[in-house]
Amino acid sequence: MAETAPDDVNSAFTPRVFSGIQPSGHLHLGNYLGALKRFAETQNRGVQSIYCMVDLHAITVWQEPADLRHATRELAAGFIASGLDPARSILFNQSQVPEHAQLAWLFNCVARMGWMGRMTQWKDKAGKNAENASLGLFAYPALMAADILVYHATHVPVGEDQKQHLELTRDIAAKFNHDYGVDFFPITEPVIEGAATRVMSLRDGSKKMSKSDPSDMSRINMTDDAETIAKKIRKAKTDPEPLPMDLDGLEGRPEARNLVNIYAALADCTPEDVIRDHGGQQFGTFKPSLADLAVAKLAPISSEMQQLMQDPAEIDRILGSGAERAREIAAPILERTFEIMGMVRG
Ligand code: TYM
Repeated sequence: MAETAPDDVNSAFTPRVFSGIQPSGHLHLGNYLGALKRFAETQNRGVQSIYCMVDLHAITVWQEPADLRHATRELAAGFIASGLDPARSILFNQSQVPEHAQLAWLFNCVARMGWMGRMTQWKDKAGKNAENASLGLFAYPALMAADILVYHATHVPVGEDQKQHLELTRDIAAKFNHDYGVDFFPITEPVIEGAATRVMSLRDGSKKMSKSDPSDMSRINMTDDAETIAKKIRKAKTDPEPLPMDLDGLEGRPEARNLVNIYAALADCTPEDVIRDHGGQQFGTFKPSLADLAVAKLAPISSEMQQLMQDPAEIDRILGSGAERAREIAAPILERTFEIMGMVRG
């Protein structure tokens, strides 16, 4: 039995960052502020970073093959345009590294049905129609644990909505280590930081901004042009009061809070700074400032994405070579996992 406390377990591992994004639908501002922008910052701090377009996760709900292919390339373009350098970070799509699916199977045998059934994403996505949901959707978090642990990743930057899945990843690692009497898998730390860990819908401050919201006005897509971005911000739901003079004044005003948080994340400052500079302003004044800032930050990314998408063969080459580098790390870790579990290796 493993006696070591989680922190001691982790000290044996080289710091390594892993995160993933589903190539389904368009990238939106929540993905950018909650994930991509922070990935680029992590890479620039010099930690080894591995980023994955999780196409195997995307197919847990139906994807048109042509749309999946396009979304995977567009997501890769989004990573690069957001500042991820494929030479410094490893960028690849999940299905090109079979070790993810192989380790996921092993973890399907470690995770318990009860753990999976408690996942809020499963409950939200399967809803009352669980009988008709794919088995893959139920097992989704075990594949996510495999994504992370097949690299012995120690840190995972994500938005707030992934917190429960990361707790399950820790549970799977701890149960594996305990059952086999090893300190083999790290107890990964979620990194959920900054003003924009939960960007909300522009139409409803109680719902997160999401690719699956039927209203396109609820989100800013990374492919929206300047005019569309400005229109969506102008039409964003707000209340009739001006911005408060201190942060406490945002209490009970989710739409106002959301716009302040978005401003702070885009401007690389804190919500306190935004309130200091804009407190007392009517939304008629604040929204145009936010729109200008959003366009200034997002337009260069969207135009670089468009440019990269002109050369899909180059994107495919980048993903292929990322996958090769990823496999060099993943293959020995998977091999050792098989050995620990008692599989005969020739
Ligand atoms: P996905 O594709 O839904 O989202 C990708 C990343 O964007 C973040 N995010 C948000 N952040 C702030 N506000 C929002 N409204 C918002 N919407 C999305 C998510 O938190 C995430 O960081 N299961 C994952 C993909 C995944 C993964 C992994 C992540 C698969 N394997 C391993 C980390 C590690 C997902 O569906 O993310």
